[in-house]
Amino acid sequence: MSEAWIIDAARTPRGIGKYGKGALHAIHPQQLGATVLKAIAERNDINTAEVDDVIWGTSSQRGPAAGDLGRMSALDAGYDIRSSGVTLDRFCGSGITTVNFAAATIMSGMSDLVVAGGCEMMSMPNRRSPEDGPVTMDQGNLRLRAKHPQSHQGVCADAIATMEGISREALDALALVSQQRAAVAIAENRFEKSLVPVYFEDGSLALDHEEFPRPQTTAEGLASLKPSFEAMADVPLDNQGTTFRKLINAVYPDLAIQFFHHAGNSSGVVDGSAALLLASPKYAEANGLKPRARVVAMANQGDSPTLMLNAPVPAARKVLAKAGLTVDDIDLWEINEAFSVVAEKFIRDLGLDREKVNVNGGAMALGHPIGATGSILIGTMVDELERTGKKRGLITMCAAGGMAPAIIIERM
Ligand SMILES: CC(C)(COP(=O)(O)OP(=O)(O)OC[C@H]1O[C@@H](n2cnc3c(N)ncnc32)[C@H](O)[C@@H]1OP(=O)(O)O)[C@@H](O)C(=O)NCCC(=O)NCCS
Repeated sequence: MSEAWIIDAARTPRGIGKYGKGALHAIHPQQLGATVLKAIAERNDINTAEVDDVIWGTSSQRGPAAGDLGRMSALDAGYDIRSSGVTLDRFCGSGITTVNFAAATIMSGMSDLVVAGGCEMMSMPNRRSPEDGPVTMDQGNLRLRAKHPQSHQGVCADAIATMEGISREALDALALVSQQRAAVAIAENRFEKSLVPVYFEDGSLALDHEEFPRPQTTAEGLASLKPSFEAMADVPLDNQGTTFRKLINAVYPDLAIQFFHHAGNSSGVVDGSAALLLASPKYAEANGLKPRARVVAMANQGDSPTLMLNAPVPAARKVLAKAGLTVDDIDLWEINEAFSVVAEKFIRDLGLDREKVNVNGGAMALGHPIGATGSILIGTMVDELERTGKKRGLITMCAAGGMAPAIIIERM
């Protein structure tokens, strides 16, 4: 079996993604993806005719993002028509999954040169906002919910915090650390290696820096924010009185959900795209591509779809077991801060040293462009392993449906 090497990583800055606002909101998702796909091809001087596949992730394959966004973005980026492209959806886990699938096709001998990544335009107008009113469920969805009640992710985050006895103070403290670390990372240009500016069609600059962080965040400021998901918990979902709260209580009848998550300790809604170049050692050596990291192990893990966000801990254990490693063998961790409770529970359950986790801040400070985030995190890990001279990193994230993909990489 071949190894899979990571040759390079590129990403856009994350732009505020609030319904039609933010520096990237007017960019087409194909164009945003093309920005990083072009950068990764040019930086590494690859023959795009030899790209066996562009494996792309996006969780909203609707509107402008519909129709195999990966293939269309690659064509937009000027890739040779003999390259190929596919787009997948594992919700928030899409961007790790694309890298894992890329590595798997290289390991199996199916491919030699693959670009993996993702794109999410959370500012696209077809996304929902809490003000949009009742969600109508189709019949199939109702049938599934009778078997596996699935709630709203923010309500799930609060349910998990309640169950785990994790306080609002602890969640806010982690959010503050995220902002502080992101501020240091930005001030020290730690993201520079991967960041690719985004331009409008007329050549003017759209965005060249992270737009979401609030470096002035204070503990008092966070403490003053009102929880975001209490009202959402009781929005009627159908004409039978179903609510997100009731969907959780259908499985956990005694749980009195406390509401702790708010705009400061939840992941930011942003636009962004990222791409990584992976190659087999045979191809890389024959074509002068210098590897930056190797893929050590990969895994997927499912967990309760009702609580939705709890799979990262078992996913990390599974990928460690596959690699024959323990927690102590990992130098750096990236656990996506979908909500503060996801990262806090991950740190507690695995007994991690906080100084090794999300060292450059996470999605609470920088934002979480759903289908792109996993690829961003892997690229950030490659950069940070190189910057610090450390060896191994583990990256994982929760995904809707109660899943988590995970990957361990090693600097070369
Ligand atoms: C939590 C959430 C609903 C908040 O959205 P929002 O209310 O539109 O957030 P805003 O940016 O308007 O911020 C709300 C307020 O908090 C304030 N705020 C946000 N971050 C802050 C910080 N770090 N410090 C102080 N104040 C902050 C804002 O200034 C704003 O104040 P204002 O109302 O006085 O203007 C949204 O971020 C969200 O849904 N996040 C999760 C996304 C998600 O589910 N991703 C998938 C994961 S599974």
